[in-house]
Amino acid sequence: MAGVLSLAEIAADPGLLTWRLRLPAGERGGAAEVILRPLVHGDADGLGDFLAGLSPTTRRLSTFDGYDLPAARELCAAIGRYDKLRLVLEEAPGGRIVGLLEFSLDLTAADIARHARAGIRLDPATDCRFGPTLADDHQANGVGSLVFPLLVEVARRLGRTRIILWGGVLADNARALRFYEKNGFRRVGSFTGPDGTLCLDMLLDPNLGRADTGL
Ligand SMILES: CC(C)(COP(=O)(O)OP(=O)(O)OC[C@H]1O[C@@H](n2cnc3c(N)ncnc32)[C@H](O)[C@@H]1OP(=O)(O)O)[C@@H](O)C(=O)NCCC(=O)NCCS
Repeated sequence: MAGVLSLAEIAADPGLLTWRLRLPAGERGGAAEVILRPLVHGDADGLGDFLAGLSPTTRRLSTFDGYDLPAARELCAAIGRYDKLRLVLEEAPGGRIVGLLEFSLDLTAADIARHARAGIRLDPATDCRFGPTLADDHQANGVGSLVFPLLVEVARRLGRTRIILWGGVLADNARALRFYEKNGFRRVGSFTGPDGTLCLDMLLDPNLGRADTGL
């Protein structure tokens, strides 16, 4: 396996984690392909459009600090700093951003405590958090599953051996539950989210993911 990449190395050379993929047949957008690549500073406008375009339903399932250009600028300003790696999916041709795939290399005390209650000892050195969001018109057509093996590869290149969900998943988010389970995640436990909703923790051991995804 290639060496572990640092966030600074990725920020300096986003091409290290860039792939081009053919979209599944039947995609509603006009593009034939998507590019998966790290978020870069020049993405603020495109990312702002992506956030602004998310429907209320998607905003409930996947929450951000804001859904506008200032929020996008904040995400771009965090590139290569702190503990986050954000990747985008960009339509090709066209360049429209249609997905935001987020990794955090940091675990919260709450994550660690919840998993400990379920008998799982998280390791901040080798575990990471992950959260996906696709544009509404790209959901439920296999795009998430198309890119997921590459996201497992991203986690590996970051030196991570397990992936947990960033803030869990709402228990009523049936599509995401199906998406995670078909891509090798298992349910770990449940908890009550900040607004009183039932959420589930799920975990993927990428070695299991390797078998499931054929990577
Ligand atoms: C979650 C998400 C990333 C998954 O990506 P995706 O491209 O939509 O997922 P896929 O199409 O690859 O897989 C979805 C699976 O759920 C199934 N599915 C779709 N709608 C469903 C529903 N309402 N109930 C149950 N299963 C459903 C699909 O049939 C598919 O399973 P299959 O391949 O066995 O048929 C994407 O839907 C998304 O961004 N959703 C909004 C934000 C969100 O929920 N993020 C996760 C927060 S934890």
